[in-house]
Amino acid sequence: MNTTQIPQTSNEEFLASRVQKLGLQDIQRHLLICADPSKPICCSQAEGIVAWDYLKRRLQELKLDVPQIDRPSCVFRTKANCLRVCTQGPILVVYPDGVWYRATTPEVIERIIQEHLLNNQIVQEYVFLTHPLPQTQPMIDLP
Ligand code: FES
Repeated sequence: MNTTQIPQTSNEEFLASRVQKLGLQDIQRHLLICADPSKPICCSQAEGIVAWDYLKRRLQELKLDVPQIDRPSCVFRTKANCLRVCTQGPILVVYPDGVWYRATTPEVIERIIQEHLLNNQIVQEYVFLTHPLPQTQPMIDLP
């Protein structure tokens, strides 16, 4: 068991540096994709890995993954173990839009990037649900 204690200040500084590096305060959209699940049901493990690798690489190539001077927002991506739909995968959801896509091969992911992310046009033929999350009340910081 590792019992090394990291000073709290270092933890907080490191956390703050991660927030900065990842551009978490500038996230415009968050994509979650079922890829490489521990129990591959919606698609094969190989198909999931190909989809994830493609999504990650293209967001990086297009510099959508980090804020830019001329575009101070970014797209965050997360590889989910399973999004619980478990059919017609890889399954990909775009938040905050709440658009759920099926069969997200690299070709479909490219269309989602070009049409949805860059031009705000949903790729309807691969959508099986659109459900934006409801607005919540502003959070209150308690003393
Ligand atoms: S295995 Fe992909 S959504 Fe469940």
